[in-house]
Amino acid sequence: MKNVLIIGSGGREHAIVRACQSSPLVKSVIVAPGNGGIAKDCVCHDVAVDNIDAMVELAKSASIDFVIVGPEAPLSLGMVDAFEAIGIPAYGPRKLGAQLEASKAFTKDFLFKYRIPTADSQTFTDYDIACASLKQREHYPVVIKASGLAAGKGVIIAEDFKKAKHAVRAMLKENIFGESGKTILVEDFLEGEEASITLVCCNGKFVMFPASQDHKRIGEADTGANTGGMGAYAPADCVTEKLNDDIIRTIVHPTLAGLKSEGIDYRGTLYIGIMLTATGPKVLEFNVRFGDPETQVLLALLKTDPIRLMYDCATGQLEPTQVELKKAYAMVVVLAAKGYPDKFSKGDSIKLPENTENAWVIHAGTKLNKKEEIVTAGGRVLGVVGIGQTLLEASEHAYFLAKKVKFDSKYYRRDIGWRQLKRNQ
Ligand code: AMP
Ligand code: GLY
Repeated sequence: MKNVLIIGSGGREHAIVRACQSSPLVKSVIVAPGNGGIAKDCVCHDVAVDNIDAMVELAKSASIDFVIVGPEAPLSLGMVDAFEAIGIPAYGPRKLGAQLEASKAFTKDFLFKYRIPTADSQTFTDYDIACASLKQREHYPVVIKASGLAAGKGVIIAEDFKKAKHAVRAMLKENIFGESGKTILVEDFLEGEEASITLVCCNGKFVMFPASQDHKRIGEADTGANTGGMGAYAPADCVTEKLNDDIIRTIVHPTLAGLKSEGIDYRGTLYIGIMLTATGPKVLEFNVRFGDPETQVLLALLKTDPIRLMYDCATGQLEPTQVELKKAYAMVVVLAAKGYPDKFSKGDSIKLPENTENAWVIHAGTKLNKKEEIVTAGGRVLGVVGIGQTLLEASEHAYFLAKKVKFDSKYYRRDIGWRQLKRNQ
């Protein structure tokens, strides 16, 4: 291979660009639409991620041999199906498989049908019926979820009836998530520690990456609103070998068998958000693409070429091998714009330090202004990755560089990895 097109504009896509640059399989790489940092590394084309026709035209005109679709929105619209139709291999599930992320209601039915452990929940479209059910509820907090895609922000944990009612009103009456919130899930709150499992799947076979742990809340000690993810690390040692085996047995195998029974030939990433509860691992969600920011740490640890894995997967040749890993830990600290995940400013100029051998900057919400300077352009602006022999070392390397990045609205959590770092003490 040859000429690769990467679709997306986040930190995940920047990390994949870097992987392409060190893959012997890749001759050239273009990105659409990309971001400020990606534009410094390769050619970007200003095509919206959900514009399937324009992406297909771009791929044809640039003689693309392989497409990697980063985010969920184009997958759920059938981006991979469109490339397959013109004979260009594309990485990611087809539209049918992408429902696992695009519809939480579909996924809950799937999980219940195949007896895969998950929180109990009910689906509602009517405000009064949802409120009547909430009123009778014995246990709070409760989790209110928009069924459709909401950029990681469609989940509200409500401590009491009043807050739950408010969340339901916002979704079903005020349409804060548009179509995505017209169907909602009211779900039991699960207690425990979270972990993310990442698989590359094809024809019922899978390759498993090390477990990682994201930090979804905006505030330190996991407080405040949910975000797309404020920082992550891997390997996540809270997923012991025994737990990993349990996850494969009780979650991965039944999920792949279930997909087959449903007639879904699932190819691509399957990301499983898991809560490690006192009664075993339970599925919080499926994503049909690599996690962001988890990808930034997973790719930092791989010796195996991830582009080879993705290409083999997209072309139906994936063999269930063990990925080869560096003997190391990696951590990414997200630098966000103050105010995210609500309102935040854009257009701040950014001063970047030089990358070091053990730490580097990945771009997410950045762009080049007219003078070709990097400025902020999104909520999650940058990710700083650190790698080290221990989690503490990885964290020190990441924070050392993170502190040197300068932009006015910079906000970041100073406690990424806190649970594991405390256990390691
Ligand atoms: P989801 O998009 O469904 O994974 O939800 C986003 C985040 O909300 C998860 O990563 C958890 O932090 C939290 N969450 C979702 N469902 C639950 C639940 N049933 N119990 C506790 N926390 C949850
Ligand atoms: N970091 C969580 C996600 O990618 O959904």
